Amino acid sequence: QKPIRVALLGCGTVGTEVVRLLTGQAADLAARVGAPVELAGIAVRKPNKHREVPADLLTTDAAALVASDVDVVVEVIGGIEPARTLLLDALRAGKSVVTANKALLAEHSAELSAAADGSGADLYFEAAVAGAIPLLRPLRESLAGDRITRVMGIVNGTTNFILSGMDSTGASYGETLEEATRLGYAEADPTADVDGFDAASKAAILASLAFHTRVTASDVHREGIASVSAADIAAARALGRTVKLLAICERVTEGDQESVSVRVHPAMIPRSHPLAGVNGAFNAVFVEADAAGEMMFYGQGAGGAPTASAVLGDLVAVARNLVQGGRGPRESAYAGLPARPMGQT
Ligand code: HSE
Repeated sequence: QKPIRVALLGCGTVGTEVVRLLTGQAADLAARVGAPVELAGIAVRKPNKHREVPADLLTTDAAALVASDVDVVVEVIGGIEPARTLLLDALRAGKSVVTANKALLAEHSAELSAAADGSGADLYFEAAVAGAIPLLRPLRESLAGDRITRVMGIVNGTTNFILSGMDSTGASYGETLEEATRLGYAEADPTADVDGFDAASKAAILASLAFHTRVTASDVHREGIASVSAADIAAARALGRTVKLLAICERVTEGDQESVSVRVHPAMIPRSHPLAGVNGAFNAVFVEADAAGEMMFYGQGAGGAPTASAVLGDLVAVARNLVQGGRGPRESAYAGLPARPMGQT
């Protein structure tokens, strides 16, 4: 069987783990897919900084790698450009894409999905929300026959580490953020995490899948955790509650009009709620659906190996589709409810 050739764009914490899993499990993956899955090249900015991956695979020319004889493009660069242009080029050329890029998906999903539809390529992105936790495919596939009413989750590990740290130690926001940075959870510039941008991107993706619609990050009402004080945490504790940064995606009905409300903000939740017990850098998403009832998805939402696990799962899915002739969801799957204007809840 002809090998499935994979271009990897980016080789940071996640990309390095993708290479490790892909090469270390080559025989198992080939058996699961029905063809060998082969790494054709790895695009990076500074090749001399990647001694842990095979040097002969490294290139600085991502566009040429995408245009070369590859079947699948895996993108773990992050950010809007050049990722958007590279992935549009790949999809328009009929190459399937696996991406972990939440910011890109939260802004440009419709454009990427239309490009995939135009060529018959696949677009998979399980790693973009809640790292290792199998969540996006359950929402868009396993629950596609049900009517989801609400998705409510802790989808940012850094802020959950900070809030649960403040709750357990009584320390201030600043002290706990310093600790998170020291342990490597928070970025050197933690703005995207603490101001809720990261969670807002993930909320937009979750809402789009749960409600079969298109929600972008600009539709999401967003508040971060920078103003949460030790006194707020203590007050919540006195009320039998704890503070979590929640992403909340809800179906809203007004008269005969239905729409989707999506917001990210700190919330006091009862300590008896399943999300209250989610501490440290863990993520969890609580889903309510008419027929299925309540369920919760819990696990590691960040980090190299957990995120690479989700990337590899997608890679196996698209490679199987190539070998067996299947296809993932089309853009027409997102023809559902309108998003409410930002700020309305
Ligand atoms: N900065 C993100 C987090 C990484 O803390 O959850 C995973 O998307």
